[in-house]
Amino acid sequence: MNPFESIKIGNLALRNNLIAAPMAGLSSLPYRILAMEMGCALAISEMVSAEGAIKGRKKTKRFFDNDDKIRPFGVQLFGAKPEAYVEAIESFVDEPIDLIDINMGCPVKKVCKKGAGSALMRNPKLVAEIVTACRKTTKLPLTVKIRAGWDNTSINCVEIAKIAEENGADAVSVHGRTRQQEFRGKANWSYITRVKKAVSIPVIGNGDIKTRDDALRMLSETKCDGIMIGRAAVGNPWIFKKILDENFEGPDIKERGETALRHLEMLRKFIGDSRSVMSMKAILPWYTKGIPGVRAFMGEVQRKTRLREFREKVEEFFFE
Ligand SMILES: Cc1cc2nc3c(=O)[nH]c(=O)nc-3n(C[C@H](O)[C@H](O)[C@H](O)COP(=O)(O)O)c2cc1C
Repeated sequence: MNPFESIKIGNLALRNNLIAAPMAGLSSLPYRILAMEMGCALAISEMVSAEGAIKGRKKTKRFFDNDDKIRPFGVQLFGAKPEAYVEAIESFVDEPIDLIDINMGCPVKKVCKKGAGSALMRNPKLVAEIVTACRKTTKLPLTVKIRAGWDNTSINCVEIAKIAEENGADAVSVHGRTRQQEFRGKANWSYITRVKKAVSIPVIGNGDIKTRDDALRMLSETKCDGIMIGRAAVGNPWIFKKILDENFEGPDIKERGETALRHLEMLRKFIGDSRSVMSMKAILPWYTKGIPGVRAFMGEVQRKTRLREFREKVEEFFFE
């Protein structure tokens, strides 16, 4: 049996069960293009403010810009007002968007202070209202992304997942950490197991998947239906291919360099010269991980602000 077989979320049939996690500042179109090329079945945008999406701010628009060829594509919304979700989703009608995901996991203070992100998990009534409102507004597959709970004393992922299911969500992703943990410690997959036992919609497990073995272990331990990968796919889109094909050994240094430069070029087209350099500085450590001389290179490249000089340094490192 193929452990990574196709799954269905609502009416959307995915080619396998691997999903690229939403990551603010990282999951823009260039990243999603590479992830999809390497076999992931669905890529989700970084979180977009439901209210910001309505205002149509240029910056917000970027988050859910997509290429018609890169499908299926999910947009993740965050916010605490049901009506904002409704308006945002209505404004997406002509966009190449195939799924709406609701963020109930973001631990960032600024977001939680407004009652959004993981703060939603402390407000089950509002969760019901938001999911209901979204469900009434769209026929697109609707998913929620949750954590184990707010903190150790208030673990409620099962309750929230059930509320999401009862009010029309088509799948739930579970990150096995509390909000209090942010990204520290280890993700506790037993919360994924608990949610899987409690709901009938597909459950996507998330947290600390770095290898094919991790993915197989999560599937067998938790019985979840799909796997969502975040940090391990940054600068490493090959992770999807490695998981799907046990014989794939991974890219050589030349291919890593070529892909890093392609990523940079796509970012340039997407957000312009200087922002692409800034953005790539955050991603390069992953593309260069484990290559001899990387420390000195990262020190040098961090000082470059102009695209041409930055690109030359990257070329030098990978190809000379
Ligand atoms: C830089 C960064 C940005 C993130 N942004 C988002 C986000 O916008 N929405 C969201 O639901 N989760 C976000 N996450 C959480 C990831 O989607 C994922 O749940 C978490 O990293 C655990 O999975 P991993 O161990 O595979 O990285 C972010 C994580 C990181 C590291």
